[in-house]
Amino acid sequence: MTLICTSCEEPHSGKETATVCRCGHPIEVRLDWRETAPAIGTVNSNDPSLWRYRSVLPPIDDEHITSLIEGWTRLCSGGDHGGVTVYFKDETVNPTGSFKDRGMSLAVSHLDMSGVREVCLPSAGNAGVSAAAYCEKAGIECHVYLPETIPATFVEATEKYGAHVHLGGQAIAEAAARMQKEKKEEWFNLSTLKEPYRVEGKKTLGYEIAEQLGWQFPDVIIYPTGGGTGLVGMWKAFNELKRMGWVEGPLPRMVAVQSAGCAPVVKAFVAGTSETEPWQDGDTVALGLNVANPLGGTWMLKVLRQSGGIAVMVNEEEVAVAREEVAHISDTESSPEAGVAWLGFQSLARSGWIREGETVVIPITGSAERYEV
Ligand SMILES: Cc1ncc(COP(=O)(O)O)c(C=O)c1O
Ligand SMILES: [Zn+2]
Repeated sequence: MTLICTSCEEPHSGKETATVCRCGHPIEVRLDWRETAPAIGTVNSNDPSLWRYRSVLPPIDDEHITSLIEGWTRLCSGGDHGGVTVYFKDETVNPTGSFKDRGMSLAVSHLDMSGVREVCLPSAGNAGVSAAAYCEKAGIECHVYLPETIPATFVEATEKYGAHVHLGGQAIAEAAARMQKEKKEEWFNLSTLKEPYRVEGKKTLGYEIAEQLGWQFPDVIIYPTGGGTGLVGMWKAFNELKRMGWVEGPLPRMVAVQSAGCAPVVKAFVAGTSETEPWQDGDTVALGLNVANPLGGTWMLKVLRQSGGIAVMVNEEEVAVAREEVAHISDTESSPEAGVAWLGFQSLARSGWIREGETVVIPITGSAERYEV
């Protein structure tokens, strides 16, 4: 296993607990499979969690695995929409109600193995609840910085798992700035893409989608995009699956959908630039997408272009109704982010970018439980 910068490609030692590269960009885990890639038979089909893919995850000693039985969520049929087959991946059933649990299980396991005892992160809500739950399980102290505008339900859930909540600012960017000021030297910074293992956990979403489709790729993945860990994680999974020979055929086209309330990735994609610019005064009901200046902007744009994908902006005013539609079709209690993704799908199906006969997977990234929907 090596750790490598996603921008300047500088290799990093796997021994220290990695954060970001000196150049400021995220570091990625590369598993070294030059000679012997794991065989498909190494998937532990008796394991009802993401740890069924342990053979393709970074090595973690048994005693440090921090699991609340996350992942291996159901892929449900979303029906036929004008000749396009839609599937939803129901991430609402994860232990703390969102797909963030995948990343946190891997990251906290690794931090526990590395001897880290205190962590901090800013969050739009779900990541903080998830970090709190996994840190509690591992006996790690956790500080969560949340915007003061967040529904009280997120604060309660984070505190329920024994984490310290620090409230301030209008959105995650301000919460992050405050954390930077107050952070103690010994606190490990578990922010999105400032540590490489959360992406390793998120990549299992891609492994599951392929396995549940009978070891096939869908044509298109539609992803409600904030910080981007899910997007880059799934793309990583699909590339690994192809490289190992577990799945054949063309890789999926990756789609990032954002609400017009905060859409830095769409803006950069449409402008043809390789970096995102900070979005001013972001505001959206899809709280997890209110990420004005994602650290992984360059990485996401690379994935969208490499995959032949696209970035789509949708109307904020339509999100609530779309959320209800998804909840109805998928029989889940989904959060507004699912409404954003669904609007993105509709727009691309209407324009013909998604074609008849294609298969599309839309992750329902979080549950409605703590949102004011
Ligand atoms: C429910 C939900 N969906 C999507 C996202 C965006 O995820 P990512 O940061 O991986 O782009 C978040 C992030 O907070 C979220 O909570
Ligand atoms: Zn670098």
